[in-house]
Amino acid sequence: MARIKGCTLVLLLSILITRSGAQQGHVHDQDFSDDDPKNIYTSPIVSGFAYLAENFDDPEKFKTVWIQSEAKKEGIDEDIAKYDGIWSVEQASRNAQEGDLGLVLKSKARHAAISARLNKPFKFDDKPLIVQYEVNFQDGQECGGAYLKLLTQDPQHMDLKKFHDKTPYTIMFGPDKCGNDHKLHFIFRHKNPMNGSIEEKHCKKPKERLEDFFKDKIPHLYTLIIRPDNTFQIKIDNKVVNDGSLLDDFTPPVNPPLEIEDPNDIRPEDWDEREKIPDPTAVKPEDWDEDAPAQIVDEDDMMPVGWLEDEPPTIPNPDAVKPDDWDVDMDGEWEPPELPNPKCEDAPGCGPYKQKMKKNPRFKGKWLPPLIDNPNYKGKWKPRLIHNPNYFNDEHPFNMMPIHAIGFELWSMSPDIYFDNLIITDDEDVAKQWADDTFEIHRQKIAQESWSVWRKFVDFTSENPWIWAVYILVVGLPVILIMYCCCFTSQEKPDKSEENERIIPNEELNETPESDGIEPNQMESVDGDDDPIISETDDVVEDDKETHEDGDAPRQRKPNKE
Ligand SMILES: *[C@@H]1O[C@H](CO)[C@@H](O)[C@H](O)[C@H]1NC(C)=O
Repeated sequence: MARIKGCTLVLLLSILITRSGAQQGHVHDQDFSDDDPKNIYTSPIVSGFAYLAENFDDPEKFKTVWIQSEAKKEGIDEDIAKYDGIWSVEQASRNAQEGDLGLVLKSKARHAAISARLNKPFKFDDKPLIVQYEVNFQDGQECGGAYLKLLTQDPQHMDLKKFHDKTPYTIMFGPDKCGNDHKLHFIFRHKNPMNGSIEEKHCKKPKERLEDFFKDKIPHLYTLIIRPDNTFQIKIDNKVVNDGSLLDDFTPPVNPPLEIEDPNDIRPEDWDEREKIPDPTAVKPEDWDEDAPAQIVDEDDMMPVGWLEDEPPTIPNPDAVKPDDWDVDMDGEWEPPELPNPKCEDAPGCGPYKQKMKKNPRFKGKWLPPLIDNPNYKGKWKPRLIHNPNYFNDEHPFNMMPIHAIGFELWSMSPDIYFDNLIITDDEDVAKQWADDTFEIHRQKIAQESWSVWRKFVDFTSENPWIWAVYILVVGLPVILIMYCCCFTSQEKPDKSEENERIIPNEELNETPESDGIEPNQMESVDGDDDPIISETDDVVEDDKETHEDGDAPRQRKPNKE
């Protein structure tokens, strides 16, 4: 036992040494990374034309470009209808570089809306639309969105101070989550060329698992590309997670079906949809007895020898006494509790004998005629198809309604959603360059920081080869000790599963199943600070039980007759 205690001590000591070493390494690392000139932040500059390229690094410019909504949400209680969520321009809460600011939705469980006008409206023509931005759920996400809306250019909705949930948008794009429902929206609003009504078209789901993007608390880059040939592509962190065609991959589909089922067509009265019918020529066989029971008494079953027919199986307990406080009015007539009849103990049974039941060979159940093919079967009825009166064929759903602004109109149960490096452009290379200058650098830095402890470790080792001796000592010694401890103990006790439990050296000798036989001094615990007097407490419990056992038989209350 003393050896085991010794091993634990050395193990603890070596863990302490290793941990303090790691902490020192971390402190050094911080010093290094701040001195590294590569890590000095400069605001990105867009490499070509963009309808909007926002890095949020200039709070003064932000105030002139972005407009907070002063609207109220329609159709809900006045006191929660206001768009009073709090937006802030500030550094990310983790891994931020000095001067790199983003837009943060600070508040939770409040409606928040903010928007910005594009440098010029985006008109869907012969160039693609690329929308790209970074989102970091800095505090995770329970329920809420981080999607953006590309607002439709519409003379009645030009005032961004009035931006609210009903403000018409052309495209909605971005992450959204509630509970276990993780989404990456891409919705566009399509104008029906027949009558001008507008319908939301929802993109099919991405194949990718989306959970991690909501909970890993690092920035992710969301990109939507829509091209004049009606194809689209959705990327997260520059990896394609969804792609397809505006014509084929949306519900409801852009174009309605050419033919529809005639809603006025009704099934003819005589249309027979039964594939099989009961054979009308079949007759019930003469000897078919529908009334024969499923089970009958087995007349061959004999009463076992020694069965005491005249003895009742139970008798009133002769030792029971009526309790003093028994109240005949309240409790009814007192009857002693029943005991098994001792005379039946050695007999196969007592009381009147009942013969066993057996399966009735004559049992047939209800007679049913066999089924045959229905000669009048006409197949399943379907209404006839007619030309769809609402049919149209829009071959260019890419030609969506022009966009004049971009906005976030959100509600979130988790605070501190960080947005950054938003761009809207018609040039895929410009968007790519913008991501390389912002997101990629930022993510590299995060990767660098999470690996920096390891990197320092490697660097330091290559510069100071003598440190290997220390590593071997710090890492190797506990390993050798653990091996030594394991081998040693397993030689003494072949049953390894007992090692973490209480060690009971004499267990093998003790044949009785109860452990009560073990004296307190035979038990010892591995860590030594456990009380070894378990069996004493057991005794106390045992004593308690005994005092309970001499109590009365449970009182059987009977319904009170009034
Ligand atoms: C336009 O047509 C669609 C069917 O294609 C219909 O659902 C919608 O109600 C119509 N809208 C108007 C304003 O008539």
